[in-house]
Amino acid sequence: MSGALTALVTSVLTVVLLLGVTAAAPIRTGSRLGDGVAIAGVALTPPMGWNTWNSYGCDLSDRIVRQAADAMVSSGLRDAGYRYVIVDDCWFDPARGPGGVLRADPARFPQGMKAVADYVHARGLKFGIYGSPNDRTCAQLGGAYPGRTGSAGHEAADARTFADWGVDYLKYDWCAPESDLDRQLTAFTRMRDALRDTGRPIVYSINANSDVLAVPPGAIYDWSGIATMWRTTNDVTPAWALGLGVATSQGIREILDTTAPLAARAGPDHWPDPDMLEIGVAGIPGSLTPGLTAAEQRTQFGMWALLAAPLIAGNALPSMDFATRALLTNPDVIAVDQDPLAAPATAVPGTAGKVWRRNLSDGSVVAALSNDDRSATRIDTSAAAVGLPAAPHYQVHDLWTGATSTTDGPLGATVAAHDTVLLRLRPDTSA
Ligand code: GLA
Repeated sequence: MSGALTALVTSVLTVVLLLGVTAAAPIRTGSRLGDGVAIAGVALTPPMGWNTWNSYGCDLSDRIVRQAADAMVSSGLRDAGYRYVIVDDCWFDPARGPGGVLRADPARFPQGMKAVADYVHARGLKFGIYGSPNDRTCAQLGGAYPGRTGSAGHEAADARTFADWGVDYLKYDWCAPESDLDRQLTAFTRMRDALRDTGRPIVYSINANSDVLAVPPGAIYDWSGIATMWRTTNDVTPAWALGLGVATSQGIREILDTTAPLAARAGPDHWPDPDMLEIGVAGIPGSLTPGLTAAEQRTQFGMWALLAAPLIAGNALPSMDFATRALLTNPDVIAVDQDPLAAPATAVPGTAGKVWRRNLSDGSVVAALSNDDRSATRIDTSAAAVGLPAAPHYQVHDLWTGATSTTDGPLGATVAAHDTVLLRLRPDTSA
């Protein structure tokens, strides 16, 4: 079983056992946690990259990471905007070295992590790595990997080690059952400050939710001043919906339902993170996580772009098929995600979450018609309802098909089950 699947099964079992305990977390919402932004200027638009976890779990090697970096270049993902190659859990020696220094697992990464970072950098890419603010990473906590190499008490030294290796992105994963806000704030702030002190521009990506058996802190609080990006839910899976509750793994529909209301927390250097893309990631047919249909993959990519989410692919890049590559590199949808206005989508009132709108920096508007039903549905709206100014006509550009058309106001489509139609609209100034 892959590490990702082991993690899913573990969290499902845990939640089944602890369902009665998940209810009443005190909710202190309100103002942003921290001050300013975590590390200024590292992510003026949402970070884009690739991460080992969804396809390889703990089965990591130097070869897998180098091949992924090569494939990012040869497939066109790098040129489409994907930059970070992120090595997730299970890269480290289970024992720290002399002086307590973190080091790579010599069997998996015989040349060490700096060599991997150099290889990634030589291809015009950036390098990311994984750690935990407690004493164990999630794989260590769950028993899938030996040792206790979390950064608790080692923050300054570990941040310096990462900076020396050339790390450009740190995924920092809570991995503890209790989620006392003061303890989380102290721990996540400590590493933020340690990263700042290195002077190296490093994207600080946190997950306050992992192994927390309650409403995820990433959805309750606004972590804008602590982290460059913060996970809003527990782990994404290649599924539409799991129906297991917020404290465990989620399908993409459930992640959208949690993350969409948090859109106002997004902006340069602080992005709510609905977790990685499951596009092209194999599921297990007939199981709870069967893999996403083509329609569901469009919904994930399109709605993540509308929400200005980080786009972190998780598929096996060397064997990526044509459809996956076409979706992941769709320039029109990536342009929406990366739009410099950084104004994520909001739901159009009265549409039961089926119509979304996002303003773009050139004055155009993207409308999403999103069908969460199990059968095709007609979804209708209008240029006025999605916030366009009055005009005699509007140009309409379908971001999946590339088709263009005009309308004098009405917009609508029959949308397949779990699919999302994306229309970019602008007032037509021609006669
Ligand atoms: C947690 C995180 C995942 C992944 C695993 C690694 O579950 O949420 O994204 O990093 O840990 O063990």
